[in-house]
Amino acid sequence: MAEAHSPLNPVVGAYRFSVAPMMDYTDRHFRVLMRQITRRSLLYTEMVVAQALHHVQGAARGGDARAQARLERLIGFDACEHPIALQVGGDDPALLAEATRIAADGGYDEINLNLGCPSEKVQKGRFGACLMAEPEQVARCIAAMAAASSLPVTVKHRIGIDARDSYAELLAFVDTLAGAGAQRFSIHARKAWLEGLDPKQNRTIPPLRHDLVHRLKQERPQLTIELNGGLLELEACRAALEHVDGVMVGRAAYDHPLRWAPVDRELFGDASQPPASASSVVRGLIPYAERWCSQGGRLWAIARHLVQVVEGVSGARHWRRDLGQAAGDRRAGPEVLAAAARQLEQRGL
Ligand SMILES: Cc1cc2nc3c(=O)[nH]c(=O)nc-3n(C[C@H](O)[C@H](O)[C@H](O)COP(=O)(O)O)c2cc1C
Repeated sequence: MAEAHSPLNPVVGAYRFSVAPMMDYTDRHFRVLMRQITRRSLLYTEMVVAQALHHVQGAARGGDARAQARLERLIGFDACEHPIALQVGGDDPALLAEATRIAADGGYDEINLNLGCPSEKVQKGRFGACLMAEPEQVARCIAAMAAASSLPVTVKHRIGIDARDSYAELLAFVDTLAGAGAQRFSIHARKAWLEGLDPKQNRTIPPLRHDLVHRLKQERPQLTIELNGGLLELEACRAALEHVDGVMVGRAAYDHPLRWAPVDRELFGDASQPPASASSVVRGLIPYAERWCSQGGRLWAIARHLVQVVEGVSGARHWRRDLGQAAGDRRAGPEVLAAAARQLEQRGL
């Protein structure tokens, strides 16, 4: 694991701590926000459906300006977001290979296949967690993705689905995918019930089994294993890293972004930047907001993610309310962030 956080290889080692893909949350704006807090971690996009990417890319190539804008919305990112993984959903090797080429051409550092989402919509499209029942099909997808570019192909999955939840089945699944070329396994340490529980319940009701992921790493030391699910504090991450190669944090990163300010120093051994504060995060977003707003983007798209940056101090509600009101104006620009940062600086936050 020594090279996992080598300063010479920030991309490869970035999975030591990553921010999980979350639909409607980990958009480019939230990712840029997280970059003000940790420069070393791996960031994931929201899941992009390979089939949708295929259609939009086709139309954009044909010169359709709306499709070009849609493509930018789907996969565009800011240079500061590196290292960044594009997460895709699908079960068709050809479409996933195409998505991989698009990711490589677009400058992504990694492509990740979603095998953990249990939503009904995703099941109808026959991708996400239901693919855990079809390891051979997933292997074909991985092989096609690995052959399509030089990007690392990684997977994110559960420890099992429905009645297929034995450790032996998990091991066989992982072995099959490793044989096909999967380079890292990000494992949400809960099974998913495909019928009976909705996605939200599937993130809370099935019990967490970190022990199974630890065991997997023990029995397959040559594989790169990342643990996800219920990691709420830095200390829990540090403890998990005694057993696995990487940790992935989802809801606790969105709900408490500044909780992770010590990550670069504590988990990557990089003390080159002072730990972020609420004001440094807001101020750091200004150059990005200038670029975004000058291209016609609305400030609100960025500011909506900032509500969680100030928490647990008196006056937080007022600050959020003022920011919400000012940023909600259609004409609002980066000056709103400058004013919000000043308010925080005056209070030493
Ligand atoms: C709102 C929301 C959206 C999510 N969207 C995705 C997604 O697009 N792709 C994916 O693989 N997992 C998705 N997840 C699951 C998370 O990546 C993660 O596996 C899960 O939240 C458990 O980690 P946590 O306990 O640290 O939050 C989502 C989770 C949430 C809360």
